[in-house]
Amino acid sequence: MDPYKYRPSSQYNTPFWTTNQGSPVWNNNNSLTVGPRGPVLLEDYHLVEKLAQFDRERIPERVVHARGASAKGFFEVTHDISHLTCADFLRAPGVQTPVIVRFSTVIHERGSPEAIRDPRGFAVKFYTREGNFDMVGNNIPVFFIRDGIKFPDMIHALKPNPKSHIQEAWRIMDFFSHVPESCNMFTFLFDDIGIPADYRHMEGFGVHTFKLINKAGKETYVKFHWKPTCGVKNLLDDEAVLVGGANHSHATQDLYDSIAAGNFPEWKLMIQTMNPADENKFEFDPLDDTKIWPEDRFPLQPVGRMVLNRNIDNFFAENEQLAFCPGVIVPGIYYSDDKMFQTRIFSYSDTQRHRLGPNYLMLPVNAPKCAHHNNHHEGFMNFMHRDEEVNYFPSRFDPVRHSERVPISQSRLAGVREKAVIPKENNFQQAGERFRSFDPARQDRFIKRIVELLSDPRVTQEVRSVWFSYWMQCDRTLGQRIASQFSMKASM
Ligand code: HEM
Repeated sequence: MDPYKYRPSSQYNTPFWTTNQGSPVWNNNNSLTVGPRGPVLLEDYHLVEKLAQFDRERIPERVVHARGASAKGFFEVTHDISHLTCADFLRAPGVQTPVIVRFSTVIHERGSPEAIRDPRGFAVKFYTREGNFDMVGNNIPVFFIRDGIKFPDMIHALKPNPKSHIQEAWRIMDFFSHVPESCNMFTFLFDDIGIPADYRHMEGFGVHTFKLINKAGKETYVKFHWKPTCGVKNLLDDEAVLVGGANHSHATQDLYDSIAAGNFPEWKLMIQTMNPADENKFEFDPLDDTKIWPEDRFPLQPVGRMVLNRNIDNFFAENEQLAFCPGVIVPGIYYSDDKMFQTRIFSYSDTQRHRLGPNYLMLPVNAPKCAHHNNHHEGFMNFMHRDEEVNYFPSRFDPVRHSERVPISQSRLAGVREKAVIPKENNFQQAGERFRSFDPARQDRFIKRIVELLSDPRVTQEVRSVWFSYWMQCDRTLGQRIASQFSMKASM
């Protein structure tokens, strides 16, 4: 026995109970008391340890996306894109990389129902040979806002009322009446796809524009799409009530049972690409995450497939403690200047240092699977055994050197400091086009859901008028039809 080695989980195998300190527990039914009727003695270390551990079992839930399910599997390259990126895990068809994926709802708590209208998170951690790559996306290709400074307010408006603890439409409609860029996202969330049937039958999107950088340093804008091979399925409102009423964990159960039965969910990874030199040629800003890139102009190109073939062993270790961050990229993939993306680079690891502690990257599910070395160490719950004497850089005693240069974006940046909206907002066009692409019954269902939101008695006439105007600007008929339900006339 090496007395200084970290106790591996293979040693979690004594045939009798012990305390966490390893001493034998000879009675796990009765507290240590003075006589058979008590009182209880504080010197019962085993009892105190057991209760103290229990008292601390819960960690803070994620501030958003608290309800989720995860599973493991692999990603395999099927098409060569090495001309676009030098990312090692995309180097050639056939290359496989282990992944863990977490699907989630956004707004409600850790144990909340899964059949609700809410975006779904679709977060993939690739454990590559060059470190982890986290693609932290959603099931909807656009987002409500384009500047992260609005995110905390947006989430407060969508979360339950701080007084009643009920999600209330008047607060949502009030907030978003100041956010016309949200219209496009509304045409997804309040469309039939707003309640996915489960996590397997759902698309995923990177949402933001990323950059791919190849060996020569050439940059390409890219959008990522996950397409489920079993197709997309959603629940209509009445179906969702039935499914959710019968089982408030139906999506987690569907994922777990499918994998356990050998029916492995699979997605194809597709990309859309754009030459950055063309970025000003369109009616929308390609870095604006409230916009899609139309597929007729930016066709989907296949890259690979992802198969989820293993359930997690432990929900706490591999779901609650799982930590994704959009800032976690690998050489060959880079952020675009999308302001939302940039804000997210900070926020996730920051919350995880609070939610899980400063050494959350030592947890097996988060740790990179490749070798690593640096002097960022210590802090609460550090459990890495280190015995070197040089923990500073540079040093003539430490042979570890810099890696080879990693490509970073070389695009030129210029401008004065300002707090401003992007010049090309174009808030309504894509929302109108999307509404017009629905068949009449789907249009009716969309309008019904928007009318329901605006019918909350606490939505003021002023807020309603703003919304009629927004929907008119998306599509004249849409605005008129919604306004007519309130016996009002819409105007721009
Ligand atoms: C600036 C805007 C945003 C901020 C500040 C933000 C912040 C956060 C935070 C703090 C978490 C909790 C992370 C944790 O506790 O581990 C989270 C989770 C998540 N966010 Fe965001 N978010 C933003 C926008 C977005 C957007 C645009 C998307 C989709 C593209 C997204 C997708 C997700 C997903 C999927 C998760 C759950 C990850 C998991 O399964 O653990 N977020 N976000």
